[in-house]
Amino acid sequence: MPTLPNPELPGTDRIELRMPDERDIELIIDAGRDPLIPVITTVETHGTADDAAGFIARQQGRVDEGRGWSMTIVDRSTDTPVGNLFISAFCHQLGCVEVGYWTGPSHRGSGHAAEALALVRDWAPDALGVDRLTLYIDPNNVSSLRTAERTGFRREAQHDRWERVGDAFRPMTVWAHGAPTAECSALGVLETRMWLNGYRDDTRWFEHHLHDDFVEHGCSGVLWTRPKIVAQDIGPIEVDVPFTDLTLEQIDVDTWMLTYLAVQPHRTCRRMSLWQQTADGWRMRFHQGTPID
Ligand SMILES: CC(C)(COP(=O)(O)OP(=O)(O)OC[C@H]1O[C@@H](n2cnc3c(N)ncnc32)[C@H](O)[C@@H]1OP(=O)(O)O)[C@@H](O)C(=O)NCCC(=O)NCCS
Repeated sequence: MPTLPNPELPGTDRIELRMPDERDIELIIDAGRDPLIPVITTVETHGTADDAAGFIARQQGRVDEGRGWSMTIVDRSTDTPVGNLFISAFCHQLGCVEVGYWTGPSHRGSGHAAEALALVRDWAPDALGVDRLTLYIDPNNVSSLRTAERTGFRREAQHDRWERVGDAFRPMTVWAHGAPTAECSALGVLETRMWLNGYRDDTRWFEHHLHDDFVEHGCSGVLWTRPKIVAQDIGPIEVDVPFTDLTLEQIDVDTWMLTYLAVQPHRTCRRMSLWQQTADGWRMRFHQGTPID
């Protein structure tokens, strides 16, 4: 499991970003009443104080788990927690991170998310050692699109069937700040989702993201093809994410290679995937696993 830096969190005269703690219980309960926040985070719908405490405890463990950095956004003028900002570290080893945010329904309309995002935009490159920050925003999410635009992020692309929201795979617009290497976050995120329950256990995900000529030389020696995988009930799987020793290299104009170590309870395998940029988006063309002791 990669070790993440754990720097002091930033602040301005107007807002502070700090580690979530018990002062946020009311905010989390408020967030549980929002139609979208419980769908895109682990905040419980109409949750209790105990549920909120569970959410807070999970956030406090994120850096040690290598998952990322979760921060409460505090309005300094009233000393009130108003929202949360999360930086996901799935692609941190490649020099990029994904940022997500929400504000409590009772605290909207003051631009807190944009302020927090601007703070992180300026703080993350040095503090976390990254070149690029990426936001994935639903094309219908007007206030989030506006937040990204207002904070100087540039819109790069739209990916079809990108993120699971409830029972559907929604398209997401991609917004970035920093180095224009879009493959960094796109392929790190896609490769991780190939392993995550909610994605890998849904045939629609593989139908969309596997190339028609996809072939896998599996870690157990089995030869997989796209029809074989799509026909199979893949089911849940346990793996350590973020992956260890993640690297990304461009092989051709439209082809990129990812390598990493996938650690599972029963085996560890070196993995390699080739991803191809097609007219319809990214498709996995080849995957290989080799077991190691
Ligand atoms: C996105 C979110 C964090 C923004 O919260 P906020 O910081 O309180 O933002 P505001 O309410 O001040 O709105 C941001 C901007 O959107 C605009 N906006 C909001 N709703 C709008 C609407 N329906 N139509 C047009 N513009 C709208 C606001 O006018 C504001 O624009 P401005 O910066 O030019 O003044 C908040 O709406 C939220 O938590 N939503 C649910 C979770 C979510 O969507 N997270 C983002 C996932 S990518």
